[in-house]
Amino acid sequence: MLRSRRSVLSAIAAGLVVGSLALPTSASALTLGFAQVGAESEWRTANTVSIKEAAKAAGITLKFSDAQQKQENQIKAIRSYIAQKVDVIAFAPVVTTGWDTVLMEAKKAKIPVILTDRSIETKDPSLYVTMIGSDFTEEGQKAAKWLLDNYKTPGDVNIVELQGTVGSAPAIERKKGFEEGIKGEPRFKITRSQTGDFTRAKGKEVMEAFLKTDKNIQVLFAHNDDMAIGAIQAIEAAGMKPGKDIIIVSIDAVKGAFEAMMAGKLNVTVECNPQLGPQLMTVVKEVKAGKEQPKWVKTVEGVFPMETAAKEFPNRKY
Ligand code: AHR
Repeated sequence: MLRSRRSVLSAIAAGLVVGSLALPTSASALTLGFAQVGAESEWRTANTVSIKEAAKAAGITLKFSDAQQKQENQIKAIRSYIAQKVDVIAFAPVVTTGWDTVLMEAKKAKIPVILTDRSIETKDPSLYVTMIGSDFTEEGQKAAKWLLDNYKTPGDVNIVELQGTVGSAPAIERKKGFEEGIKGEPRFKITRSQTGDFTRAKGKEVMEAFLKTDKNIQVLFAHNDDMAIGAIQAIEAAGMKPGKDIIIVSIDAVKGAFEAMMAGKLNVTVECNPQLGPQLMTVVKEVKAGKEQPKWVKTVEGVFPMETAAKEFPNRKY
């Protein structure tokens, strides 16, 4: 009996040793809760792939949710990550406002929050550690600059604008940047502007509506490539040549845009890099290791006019 009790005790002791040996591995395997916007565009799909692949490569356990472009779903996901006590929460905010309450909850639970892709408006910047993503205002300015540098036909230039999701950082800031860019040139005017919610279907639908009521459109500025691609279908259905009868300027630089440029249907795309996964995983590890972070880790991006498309296409990763 004594012997068997001893062996039980040593078995327990051995178990404890194994358990404690295993502890550092499980303790160092971080869990990241990521609340994604949705799957609204080619860009977003590439962004999701980048995050999933990078988490795997970095040995980080990823809990992933798709909010279907609804803020309430993202808030629900963040709350569930808090309840699950993840190590870090990251999210790409659908819209800029309305985050303070849930982020206060994360702060109270001592879970650091990282923003990716889109920024937020808050009176308390301590609610998030850092934001990894593009300068959307600069993207709008680059789009305007390309237009001013390249549109040489004399006369008024009526521009229709397909905006991104209402209240989202890229929609607000790309619009602002583009308007700043054309400000000094009175012949360039935005004559119509409406949201296409960053999707092909809505981009097509809104462009169809523009074309029904307006025959005097020289330029389309689309806040993303998917809406531009939808609009191209509408322009063709109206018997016009996209890229010639209507000059098309858009943002993202996804493969679909390169295909449209190679077909001569889209004039230029300003790059917005969705491959934020590797940077995010590095920041997750650094934050947990207590390393200070800059408030904004900016993504470096280019501009791709139609003439460069065929050469660049084989190098595109998304
Ligand atoms: O926030 C980035 C934007 O969101 C991309 O430009 C757009 O395609 C996406 O849906």
